[in-house]
Amino acid sequence: MCGIVGYVGPRVATPVLIEGLKRLEYRGYDSAGVAVMNGNGVETRKAVGKIAALESVVGDDPVEGMTGIAHTRWATHGAPNECNAHPHHDCTGTIAVVHNGIIENYGALRTMLQGHGHTFVSETDTEVLAHLIEAAFDGNLEEAVADSLHLVEGTYGIAVVSSQDPVKIVAARKGSPLLLGLGEGENFLASDVAAILKYTRDVVYLDDGELAVITADSYRVFDLQAVQREKKVSKIDWDLDMIEKGGFAHFMLKEIFEQPTTIENTMRGRLVTEEGFSKLGGINLSREELQNIDNVVITACGTSWHSALIGELLIEDLARIPVEVEYASEFRYRNPIITQRTLCVVISQSGETADTLAAMREAKRRGAKTLGLVNVVGSTIAREDDGGIYLHAGPEIGVASTKAFTSQVVALLLLTLKLARRRDMSAARGREIAQAMEHLPAQIREILDRAGEIEELAEQFKDASNFLYLGRGYNFPVALEGALKLKEISYIHAEGYPAAEMKHGPIALIDANMPVVFIAPHDAVFDKVVSNVQEVKARGGRVIALTSREEPTLKKLADYEFRIPETLDMLYPILAAIPLQLLAYYIAAKRGLNVDQPRNLAKSVTVE
Ligand code: AGP
Repeated sequence: MCGIVGYVGPRVATPVLIEGLKRLEYRGYDSAGVAVMNGNGVETRKAVGKIAALESVVGDDPVEGMTGIAHTRWATHGAPNECNAHPHHDCTGTIAVVHNGIIENYGALRTMLQGHGHTFVSETDTEVLAHLIEAAFDGNLEEAVADSLHLVEGTYGIAVVSSQDPVKIVAARKGSPLLLGLGEGENFLASDVAAILKYTRDVVYLDDGELAVITADSYRVFDLQAVQREKKVSKIDWDLDMIEKGGFAHFMLKEIFEQPTTIENTMRGRLVTEEGFSKLGGINLSREELQNIDNVVITACGTSWHSALIGELLIEDLARIPVEVEYASEFRYRNPIITQRTLCVVISQSGETADTLAAMREAKRRGAKTLGLVNVVGSTIAREDDGGIYLHAGPEIGVASTKAFTSQVVALLLLTLKLARRRDMSAARGREIAQAMEHLPAQIREILDRAGEIEELAEQFKDASNFLYLGRGYNFPVALEGALKLKEISYIHAEGYPAAEMKHGPIALIDANMPVVFIAPHDAVFDKVVSNVQEVKARGGRVIALTSREEPTLKKLADYEFRIPETLDMLYPILAAIPLQLLAYYIAAKRGLNVDQPRNLAKSVTVE
């Protein structure tokens, strides 16, 4: 996620700002910049890459001043380059803005502003804010910011400075965190307390819809109707390590708990519920090209390959287009059948996985249209594909992929709606799916509220040597994903299998020492899965059942049951994945292992 730092007081601002940005590095970013008021105007320095690059730019061309703002960017709109790095300016260069969040109506605002003669230099959504404030500015910066934000749809955490109304910072929040740090004769602004902990532990958290005016010796908070608000001052008693993980013990657990929000972000502005449709600007496929697709290949690795298997079931079930799922490492060497009417969907959280990148290039070489489902904006796969759907899940720091997996499945659902509604799927069916998708964040929160039940389960099974995960239909890939999560962070051997396939061999493994996890929601194949549970129990196996309803037969058979909310069959993978992520996490944590950086693993496998 992007990071914001602001300072106003007696110190030279730049070192304070850069030190603050360094404290936000863990959040992931691809460029950085500062804007400082030097008594004559606003001076900006930016750099692509690490903060060290910004430091050398500032070192070569210092900027003095005691009021400034700074930003680390995790690109969402526009490639990670210097031009798109924040801060962004208005036409006069006297206003500078940094922003976290997504402005959904930036296209319309940009067109309106250009119609009024404003010129834009970047591809970002953020730049429209600088020009809106310029257009509204009439000598008072906070009034201009408030007027501008009334026009904005989407989410923001912003900081604004202007040399026409100097020695203050104006900040505002809607959906992206911001807080004030209160010092002696100086004040700070940050998106995360880690950036300012060195200077103060007294903070004021802004709430959505609030705007703050910060000077060296004062701060005032208002709503967007300019009504002043009294705010509580909080004392921070966390240490830095805890802060970077948001109070969670590991990044992986933090990212598991982020999933209600990250799924909302993946869907944001893309689900047209009343039409049962999806709006996907970046896929770069015309209506004719969409109609012309007669086969789909989905290629990926690891967890992304598991979401690909779910994509296959979705697209074949709902859009009635034949789909092949390929391990990227196998695809590129097996002389695949690709035509001009093949759509090659490439799934990769990092956008840098060597095998997946090579597979995409091979598909392109053979004439396929390529579509990247990628989390990291501006990554190699995202730059080379013909079109894409960014996951907007924010940086995934834990090596074991969690929030990226559920966002990949949501992105595949959005793509399926797009393809299916261009074919025979009715608006009513599309609406039913879209409405069920809108309930997912709340349903995931409901599951996360019961994480303690999974932690107790982990206590029972943390010393097991082997696990079996079984599921059918949409939940067979979930069985594979649950097994991968467990083995890659706890080092316990685990296998995922189609539930019915277990009797063709793996059933020989069943005994009292082999915990068997069944993904058994009340879907179309529930009764079949219950029969498989009976087969396992008949051989003395211990059964952990993930299910969505109280049902006497299963309740009697299962040694442990965890309930997930009811939803459509095709959406169960998203809900079922959450307890399996938690089970793997708690077992690994209880075994005292390095959950975020497991042995032998890298977050992005950039070698073949
Ligand atoms: C997932 O938990 C693993 N860390 C790994 O399988 C990962 O999914 C795989 O390497 C693919 O990475 P990508 O999505 O960045 O391409």
